[in-house]
Amino acid sequence: MQRFIIQGGRRLEGDITVQGAKNSALPILAAALLCEGETVLTNCPKLSDVYAACRILTSIGCKCVMRDRTVTINADVPSRAVIPERLMQEMRSSIIFMGALLGRLGMCTLGFPGGCELGPRPIDLHLQAMRRMGVRITEENGILHCAAPRGLHGARIHLQFPSVGATENILLAAVRAEGETIVTNAAREPEITDLAQFLVKCGARIEGAGSGTIRILGTDKLTGCEYAVMPDRIVTATWLACAASTGGELRLLRTDSGSMTGILDAFEEMGCRCSQSEDTLCFAAGRPLKPLRYIKTMPYPGFPTDAQAIVMASLCKAAGTSVMEETIFENRFRHVEALVRMGADIRVAGRAAVIRGVHAMHGAQVSATDLRGGAAMLAAALGAEGETVLTEISHIDRGYDSPELVLQAVGAKIERR
Ligand code: EPZ
Repeated sequence: MQRFIIQGGRRLEGDITVQGAKNSALPILAAALLCEGETVLTNCPKLSDVYAACRILTSIGCKCVMRDRTVTINADVPSRAVIPERLMQEMRSSIIFMGALLGRLGMCTLGFPGGCELGPRPIDLHLQAMRRMGVRITEENGILHCAAPRGLHGARIHLQFPSVGATENILLAAVRAEGETIVTNAAREPEITDLAQFLVKCGARIEGAGSGTIRILGTDKLTGCEYAVMPDRIVTATWLACAASTGGELRLLRTDSGSMTGILDAFEEMGCRCSQSEDTLCFAAGRPLKPLRYIKTMPYPGFPTDAQAIVMASLCKAAGTSVMEETIFENRFRHVEALVRMGADIRVAGRAAVIRGVHAMHGAQVSATDLRGGAAMLAAALGAEGETVLTEISHIDRGYDSPELVLQAVGAKIERR
């Protein structure tokens, strides 16, 4: 198993070009299935989740080739509407292929995406929405059989919770459905807007993406196009946390700072300086960092749950006590144990974590628990004294494109073994 060996205590300084967004690339790869002709997706990060999505496309009968950070897909003749069990288990977010398969073929068979490190991760909102559009869904021993014998039709769908995945699945099914679909209480994350912009470029009729109400008018044909994936706002937040933890100063290139308000507000409250011009974000750590009296994770445009562990890592050495409340996932404090092993003073009570800043953290042997928890350990290790051995880094490779190379280029002493 690979691991990162990190020697902490070195200030990070320099320029980082931010990778394309995993959570935009994945739904857009699924959306390519809806299109005839060729789709060329550029600025696509080299991640294990992206490779898994390419394997799913290939298993459905599409041609899918990734060269460096460009993926070329041809979905002229998708032959199979079945996603193999092992591919479903490999990547939870493969559930977003449900909408695309239903949109293109009117049917799909896929394994129930298992619960994962963040909690049960149900898909009830996805299934309710598909049923509203005329899909018949039956489940037998963990396999979902979905079919729309009379084709998909538009519907009015209200989401009880602004689920990102459910909103994406509705978009993917509705663009090829008969008639109009109106989604209320839709997720507003920037990755939804990126997906909608891709679909519109392919010929879809979508209004209101990024707001809570999205209107989609189904069309009977979509044609592939060339599209660049938006920058990854959570990876950007990760590099900011690494700079904050080491008292460093970074210039981040190819960012989408418009999508980072909740994140930048938190770092500015911590005394960091953030200034943006076009797609460049200049960041200088506050020294010392100030605590965040109280912050809670919220659906976009609030403070994102994916940045919770990452910002917590920086707060471990803040000059005071911070309180973080995780309102999106049931079990998203699994990284706390590792941070405590590195010397942090954190107490978890239900959905809240109380972080009392300590003067210094020290290296330790820790294991990544999940994607963003692993990233948090990386940020903490860079700001800790001594050596950290971070194992189970396959979690990190799901969402970060060569993180050790990025960090080495700005002065970090980190190696992958
Ligand atoms: C997406 O997951 C992201 N994944 C997650 O990022 C992110 O944390 C999450 O949105 C919230 O922003 C991708 O985009 C691939 P949700 P998703 O549906 O779609 C409950 C990362 O680190 N829920 O908005 O699964 C669910 O249990 C990953 O990159 C239902 O109850 O998130 C959770 O508590 C981690 N029923 C909450 O809603 C449903 O049918 C948010 O889930 C669906 C969701």
